[in-house]
Order: sequence, then structure tokens, then C-alpha cells
Amino acid sequence: MYIERILLKNFRNYTDAEIKFDPKTNIIFGSNAQGKTNLVEAVYYLCVGKSPRTPREKELIKTGQDKAYIRVDAVKKTGKVRIEAYLTRTENRRISINGIPIKRIGELMGTVNAVFFSPDELKIIKEAPENRRRFIDIDLSQLSRNYFYNLSRYNKILSQRNRLLKSQKNLKETVDIWDEQLADCGSRVAYQRKEFVRMLGAFASDAQSYLTDGKEILKVAYEGIKGDSADEIKQNFLKKLKAEKDYDIERGYTHTGIHKDDIALSVGGVDIRSFGSQGQQRTAALALKLAELQIFAHEVGETPVLILDDVFSELDEARRIRLIQKIDNIQTLITCTHFDNDINASFFKVSAGQIKSTK
Ligand SMILES: Nc1ncnc2c1ncn2[C@@H]1O[C@H](COP(=O)(O)OP(=O)(O)O)[C@@H](O)[C@H]1O
Ligand SMILES: [Mg+2]
Repeated sequence: MYIERILLKNFRNYTDAEIKFDPKTNIIFGSNAQGKTNLVEAVYYLCVGKSPRTPREKELIKTGQDKAYIRVDAVKKTGKVRIEAYLTRTENRRISINGIPIKRIGELMGTVNAVFFSPDELKIIKEAPENRRRFIDIDLSQLSRNYFYNLSRYNKILSQRNRLLKSQKNLKETVDIWDEQLADCGSRVAYQRKEFVRMLGAFASDAQSYLTDGKEILKVAYEGIKGDSADEIKQNFLKKLKAEKDYDIERGYTHTGIHKDDIALSVGGVDIRSFGSQGQQRTAALALKLAELQIFAHEVGETPVLILDDVFSELDEARRIRLIQKIDNIQTLITCTHFDNDINASFFKVSAGQIKSTK
């Protein structure tokens, strides 16, 4: 799939912009703070319903304006799709697909898929487990609506359980009324995560070898509640909830569950989450992103749009060339301040919220 056109009105530093993208490589260049990331942020927002940069939607509306409008026209094997978002300062955002407003954000998932990579993504490797969970959650939500719904239900039940745990003593004792439901949707989520990480691991390991010319072997493993089927996970989850009930009551918080899951990442037996060199961590982040692409291609039957925000400057030339070779037949939106002149691509120059096609 690819994005054919994008339209921005009062989004970030854009007043009114429209561009037609190349179905293959697009280089978006310009000095710092001109609007390159803002442009790809809009693309990603329309694919996933979330900004990769901020949870605060109002930031997306141009300063001094009340509302913003963004739209992409995408081309898929099954036909064209138009996604539009209307943002205002006072009301909830509205999103529509082919002119029809959606009721729940879950309906957007999987319409047009995008993979986003920026230097910030290094935190998937080296920061807290929630970054790795978010990474899997965003992907799986695009791939499976069931996943998205089970995860949303899980989070709701979890916060109800936690609220009860924080309440008066006599109410706390009834906390296990939530356990069955919590374990039920939690185990479904966990099982899908486990399968996803298995596939991701295989692709990422290949990508790491490819990028390092066989020098580094990356291993990726799911760390969570044990079990080989959703049902086995559920039974184990229920046992743990029961075993930790008193501790949960004492602390006013649920200690067991998929909100504690993590992904283990190692190169040559060394846990690179804490002990990897910067180079290993960067390469692993990129390998995970390339693996994401392959999973989408495999599961959806179409490659997603790949967004590389400012990552080119961070790679050495050998890795840059290998990367370009790997992605030359899918749509990529690459932002950078400098680029190699011999890249076969369409070029867009961004300056102060204006975009000009230069070739
Ligand atoms: N809501 C907003 N309204 C107006 N300008 C904004 C808004 N949000 C960000 N900006 C401006 O956008 C610019 C940064 O754009 P960005 O796309 O991050 O730059 P870069 O080209 O370096 O990727 C900054 O000048 C910032 O002030
Ligand atoms: Mg930027």
C-alpha cells in the first residue's frame, strides 16, 4: 500500500499544504524546525490514530487556530482509501474513512498501515518495559481488531480492580470478582503477544545479521505469564492473581498481569536492553522495525508505509546502503537534513511550513 496524497490545514506549523507522494522513495529534506517531522507525524496519525510524538492532541493544532484538518488518500490492493481527521480545541477529534465517520478508533486500525522509525525509537530497546509493550501493542492493534478490543477491555478491568484495591478495607476483600474477566482478556492478549514476538524475533534476527554482515545475532523473546495456549496462560494467570491477592490488597495495586510483560533482547548472550553498545542498540532498533515491515507484509499481504524520521544521519554509510537496498520497493518517507545525491527518489523541500516538490 502507499499514500498518494496528503493534505494539511492548520496542522502544527502548516497553514495549507498538499503534496503528492511517490509510491516508492520520498526524501523530505530541509533545515531543522521547518516541519519535516510534522509532515510525517500527520501521515502516521491518520494511519494509527495516534501521534508518535505526543499524547496531547491539541498540540497538533496550529497555534492561534481553533481547528485542524488532515487527510490522506491511500492506494491499497483492494482499492483507494481516504482517511480524514478533524481536530478542534473544544471537542473530541473526528476521524472518517471514505467519508464515513468512525465510532471507535478500533475501526481505523489496519486501514492503512505504517511503521515509524526515529532516533527516539531507541527507547524501545533501552528504556522501561512499557516502551516495548507499546511497540507490540501498536503493531498488534493494527493487525488484529480482536487484540485491540481485548487490550482495551483488559485495561478497563485492571483499573476497576485497582480502584477496588485502593478502596475501604471491606470492599477490598471482593477484589477477585474481577479476576476471571481480567485473566480471560489478559490471556488472549498474552497469547497474541507471544506469537507476535516469535515471528518478530525470527525476522529481526535475520535483519540484524543482514545489517551487520553476519557479525551480530539478535535474540528476541517474550517475557510474561507462562503457557503455550491462551487457556494455559489464563490458568497460570488466575493462580498468580490468587497467590498475590493479599500482597495486592496490602499495596493497593495489581502486581500480576500483562501490564508487566516485556521483551528480552540479546546479542551474543548479552542483554542489550541494559548492556548493549550504542551501535548494537541502534541496529537492533532498526532490525525490529524491518521485522515489523515483514510481519505486516506477511500478515496483511501488503507492505506498510515506512517512515524514517531523521535516522539516516545516525547510520554509517555501509548500514545506510544496506538499508536502502532492503527497502527500495516499498513506499518510504524519509526525512533528513542531508542526503546522498545518487538516491533514486522523489524530493520535497520543507521550509517554514511550506513544501515544494523539487524533482
Ligand atoms: N501547534 C503548532 N503550531 C505552530 N507551530 C508548531 C506547532 N507545533 C510545532 N510547531 C513548530 O514546528 C516546528 C518544528 O517542526 P518539525 O517538523 O519538528 O521540524 P523538523 O523539520 O526539524 O522535523 C517548530 O518550529 C515548532 O515551533
Ligand atoms: Mg524532525
